[in-house]
Amino acid sequence: MNRKIIFATGNKNKMIEIRQILGDLGWEIQSMKEAGIDADIIEDGTTFEENALIKAKAVAACCDDIVLADDSGLEIDYLNKEPGIYSSRYAGEDTSYEIKNQMLLDRLQGVPREKRTARFVCAVAAVIPGQEPVVVRGTIEGYIGDKPAGENGFGYDPIFYVEDLNCSTAELSPEEKNARSHRGNALRMMREKIKNLC
Ligand code: IMP
Repeated sequence: MNRKIIFATGNKNKMIEIRQILGDLGWEIQSMKEAGIDADIIEDGTTFEENALIKAKAVAACCDDIVLADDSGLEIDYLNKEPGIYSSRYAGEDTSYEIKNQMLLDRLQGVPREKRTARFVCAVAAVIPGQEPVVVRGTIEGYIGDKPAGENGFGYDPIFYVEDLNCSTAELSPEEKNARSHRGNALRMMREKIKNLC
């Protein structure tokens, strides 16, 4: 079995987190760019799992290594789980998160705390040569606060408050967030699967 994992992302921050969590497998971990792969991927799945698998399969078609890919987003229960798989495209790809976050806060104006429940979701898919593809899902439960808070993280972090901490994920250090985040949880689950399968 090849001792190399290629992660289907170009996002440097994700690669740092992935290396931290999968590092103890002792395998070489490369981004698709580092592996010299430039796949044109159309994410037209209807779930996080489908999109993660689409990305992993597209990159796996270009190499013989283990390929991992993720797809993530924010689900707000009161808004029928919007923005969901459209999280990065919500209100337009080029719209700033300051504006996206304010739009979501406006849509939740007057909605009481108990109806503001939300979660970040992350699906991680693995295509392992000679095996059936594997997909896992990690989540972190929380609620949408009344106003943005915190400077860390990215995207919807300033408006997403962790259930038992009563602070936003933008107020957590990267280490604190990784220890309980959707992506951290999904990657830790996938690390155990890979350990057993390879
Ligand atoms: P992707 O998985 O890189 O396609 O990211 C999907 C989108 O979900 C991001 O662009 C953000 O809008 C949102 N998102 C996913 N994870 C997080 C997070 O940890 N914090 C804030 N926003 C997130």
